[in-house]
Amino acid sequence: MLNKKTVNDIELKGKTVLVRTDYNVPLDKKGRIVGDFRMKSCLPNLRYLLKQNCKIVICSHMGRPKDSADKHLSLKPVAKHLEGLLGQEIAFADDCIGEARDKQIKAMKPGEILLLENLRYYPEETANDAVFAKKLANNCDILVQNGFGVLHRKHASTDAITRILPAVAGLLVEKEIKTIKDIVNNPKRPLMAIVGGAKISDKMHVLELFIDIADVVAIGGAMSNTFLLAQGVKIGDSLAEPNDIELARKILDKARAKAKKGSFVFYIPQDGVVAKKAASNTKTRIVDWGTHAIAEIEDYPKHPNPVRSLVAEDEMILDIGPFSGAFIAGSMQLAGSVFWNGALGVTEIEALQNATGPFSHGTELVFEAILGQFGHRPYSLIGGGDTVGFVESKGLADQFDHVSTGGGASLELLVGKKLPGIEALQDK
Ligand code: 3PG
Repeated sequence: MLNKKTVNDIELKGKTVLVRTDYNVPLDKKGRIVGDFRMKSCLPNLRYLLKQNCKIVICSHMGRPKDSADKHLSLKPVAKHLEGLLGQEIAFADDCIGEARDKQIKAMKPGEILLLENLRYYPEETANDAVFAKKLANNCDILVQNGFGVLHRKHASTDAITRILPAVAGLLVEKEIKTIKDIVNNPKRPLMAIVGGAKISDKMHVLELFIDIADVVAIGGAMSNTFLLAQGVKIGDSLAEPNDIELARKILDKARAKAKKGSFVFYIPQDGVVAKKAASNTKTRIVDWGTHAIAEIEDYPKHPNPVRSLVAEDEMILDIGPFSGAFIAGSMQLAGSVFWNGALGVTEIEALQNATGPFSHGTELVFEAILGQFGHRPYSLIGGGDTVGFVESKGLADQFDHVSTGGGASLELLVGKKLPGIEALQDK
């Protein structure tokens, strides 16, 4: 539960409300919005404020600009896109602070919306600068914090500003916190966690948490290559983190210790799709490196396939193979709930082109299984920028039980860290 005040706990009628939002959406090379899931997720909060007859001033960051010369990170295209989603005119302020935008706010009528330019055009935003926060708060009565994806950052618009304006949580923040805490505290069992992505060190705490609370943990993506290395499997030219091998061993030890106490599986891919380059027109083959790659967990059934092959020196593992996919999709038929974070293969090649690429089959199989295409449909929670981007590119973001709009923020919340942007809000 969220023990902070939300928009439902205060009088907002007719107020000028500054809404901190995370409109940090994926753009293509021409600056066009290619995924609006984060924007759609914020609509109920905006509609609620419109019903309260508020004047709505929205602020957000976009990417990590060096300075305001980074024009491709302007929020202007977001204003246009929001008009289409909401079906009403959205005014735009070319600067997120200053006299001109102050005047724009003063001239607003109830029910009007103004979107401010990228907060991060000012380094003061990330520096949590109090003077900048004061300028941002000018002419506004209340801060509604609805930027869930950025709440793990202690920035001017998530922290310093709360010492200037009364600050409460928006509807998206309330929903995210409740849903993520529920899966940690009270999951439908068996709970299966699928964790992919590039670096073990980035997801170390998440892996540890899931070994503690889940019944099955399956890993994929480049991080599984480091686990393979830790077990002496040759991975050729695959992306891996040799410095994290010790970390991988620590995690495997923890998994083994839990497996000894009862029923628990920690699964590392046993086969993969390999190629010499990560391109869409490349030649691929499947390599089955064998069962010893599965963490040697007591009582885990041995894989019957006797054929073994090796990843060549100049090949890279770019996706999970068919046996690994079958294991993961099969295990899901028994799961009560599934948490998924991180792609299992290289999905970026095609993610923005809305097509199927040679290394996205494993990730696709996982979402098909989660969505019940093989019969059983577990409760599903999805998080992580690349995973969400992938399901979004397939037009499936609204099919899961909960897709978190936060990458880092949802992971930090999962592992029980306090989010500065939540801590700063008014207590209930
Ligand atoms: C995100 O995309 O995870 C959030 O918008 C936060 O962005 P940041 O990692 O640049 O702070």
